[in-house]
Amino acid sequence: MADAAAPRRITRRTFLGWWLASLMTATVITGLLPILVFFWPAPPKGQKKGPINIALQTPINQLQDGDAVKFDAPRNPNSAFIMADGGGDNAPGELDFGGFVVKNQGKVSVFAINCSHLGCSVALNKDAKTFDCPCHGSRFHLDGTVLRGPAPVPLSHLAWKQGANPGDIEVEGIVLGF
Ligand code: FES
Repeated sequence: MADAAAPRRITRRTFLGWWLASLMTATVITGLLPILVFFWPAPPKGQKKGPINIALQTPINQLQDGDAVKFDAPRNPNSAFIMADGGGDNAPGELDFGGFVVKNQGKVSVFAINCSHLGCSVALNKDAKTFDCPCHGSRFHLDGTVLRGPAPVPLSHLAWKQGANPGDIEVEGIVLGF
């Protein structure tokens, strides 16, 4: 009769079974991790979405009808704006690094600077009161709609609100953290 108090002996078969099971588990985890990271990447350290305060060169209340003022995303910390809508080369949620505040027929709008054709930065044509793209000749009205292609759709809007100071606006964006 076996002694119940005697320590249980681990057979070679049990040991090999556990060793193989551990090895297989480790292999599966090692193989799955890169896939999981691909689908759920960790946000870069310090990245934060939210309103970005911009001090305009010309405050909105000093803009004449038909005027526009350009602004850039802050570099310190490195930040970008988030497109609220768009089509062509632009899309909601895409990032851009500049924009225009426009006063047109009494209405104030804020546009991302990216051309909807292939993303070049448009420039204000003060005489014609249009936004012109230097890359392939697209032109946009001050309300963002296309005056001349190849740009297929209007400029993207940026979500914004008046800042605490009269010359400031807050534009929806992201601090990139790198
Ligand atoms: S990128 Fe603007 S016209 Fe092509």
